Amino acid sequence: MFYFDYSATTPVNSDILAAFEKMNHQFYANVGSMHTAGVTANDQLAQARTEVASFLGVQDEEIIFTSGATESNNLIIQGVADARKKEGKHVITTMIEHSSVYDTYRYLEEYHNFEVTYLPVDENCRIRLEDLQAALRPETILVSIMHVNSEVGSIQPVEEAIQLIRAHSDAYIHLDMVQSFTKIPYAFTDLDINFASISMHKIYGLKGSGLLYRRLDSKIVRRMFGGMQEFGVRGGTANTPANMVVGKTIALALENIEKKHAHVDTLHQRLRQFLEQYDFITINTPKESYSPYIVNFSVSGLNSDDILYTLDQAGICISTKSADVAKAKLPSRILYAMSRCEQRATSGVRISLSHLTTEFEFDYLLDNLKMIFSQI
Ligand SMILES: Cc1ncc(COP(=O)(O)O)c(C=O)c1O
Repeated sequence: MFYFDYSATTPVNSDILAAFEKMNHQFYANVGSMHTAGVTANDQLAQARTEVASFLGVQDEEIIFTSGATESNNLIIQGVADARKKEGKHVITTMIEHSSVYDTYRYLEEYHNFEVTYLPVDENCRIRLEDLQAALRPETILVSIMHVNSEVGSIQPVEEAIQLIRAHSDAYIHLDMVQSFTKIPYAFTDLDINFASISMHKIYGLKGSGLLYRRLDSKIVRRMFGGMQEFGVRGGTANTPANMVVGKTIALALENIEKKHAHVDTLHQRLRQFLEQYDFITINTPKESYSPYIVNFSVSGLNSDDILYTLDQAGICISTKSADVAKAKLPSRILYAMSRCEQRATSGVRISLSHLTTEFEFDYLLDNLKMIFSQI
C-alpha cells in the first residue's frame, strides 16, 4: 500500500501500541475504585496528565482526556453555549471548519436559537481579520477557529485573531489544533486561548484518544452526565491505558520536528512543481502560510472521485475531502468557500504527506498522476 492520506489518520506507532498493550495488562483497574489497584491506576492517570500538561506548559487540571477531537469540539462548543447563554447568544466560527465544529454550530443555530456568524475566507483559504472584527459584538460568547485547515492546509492568522478578539470582546477563544499540533512550529503557551482540541490518531497515536485543553477560568457545562471524572467536565470511566500513552505519543511527535517538517516540505515543493506543469490543474493549497503536510489541487475536467479510484487501483490511498465528509457526494464546502467555483469544489484531490513518506513512494505517486493527467 502507498499511503498518502495521513491527514485522515496515521498508522499507530508500534512503541505506542506496545506500551498501550502493557498498560492494559497492568493498569486496568477503575481509577475510581478504592482498592490498591484502583488507587495505583489513579496515580498513573495523574502522572499521565502531568506529563501531557508539561508538554503544553499548562496546569494539570487544564487537561481533559477525551475520545478524540470530535468529542472535544462538541464538548467545548455545546458546553460553553450552555454555560454562557445568559451572557449572549452570538457565536462566531468559519466556513471552513471540520464538521465536528461546523455542524455543532449549525446545531446551536437550529435547536438553541443561537445566532452564528460563519466567517468567509479569501482565495488562500484564510479568514480576513476585518471580517472577524466586524462580526464581534458585546454578546459574542465564543469564537472557534481551526489552526490549520484539514483539506487545503492553510494556516489561519490565529495570533492576530486572538489579539482582535481580546481587544473587542469577552468571547472565549477555541482553536481546533488537530492538523497543527506537532506539525507546524508554534508555542502553545504563546496562544492566549480558552480552549483547544487535539487528536492522537493524527499523530501516530491511538484512535479514540484525544485532549481538550480548558483554561481553568473558562466556564463549561458537561455533556456526559455520570461520574465526576475529568474534573466534572467529562463523565465516564477513564480509559487509563490510552491516556497513559498520550504523553509518549506527543513526545515522539515532537522528536526531530524540524527535520520532519523539512523532509515533508521538500516533497511538498516537488509535488507543487510537478502539478504546476499542467494548465488544467489549480493548486488550492496556498503558497504562503501553509502546512507542508497537505497538498490540495483541483483538476479541471475530472471528478475527484475518478482520480481517487484510479489511484486506488494502483494501491495508492489519497482523499478528495476531509474523511468526515468524504462519502457524501457533494462538492467540498471548503474548496467552494475559497473559490466560489463548483467545478473546483468537485474536482479537489488531497495528498497528505508524512515524515514516513519515502522518495520511492513519492515517485510512484508522481508516475501514476502523470499517467492519469496524460489522458486528459
Ligand atoms: C481539523 C479537524 N478537527 C477535528 C477532527 C476530528 O478528530 P477525531 O477524528 O479525533 O474525532 C479532524 C479529523 O479529521 C480534523 O481534521
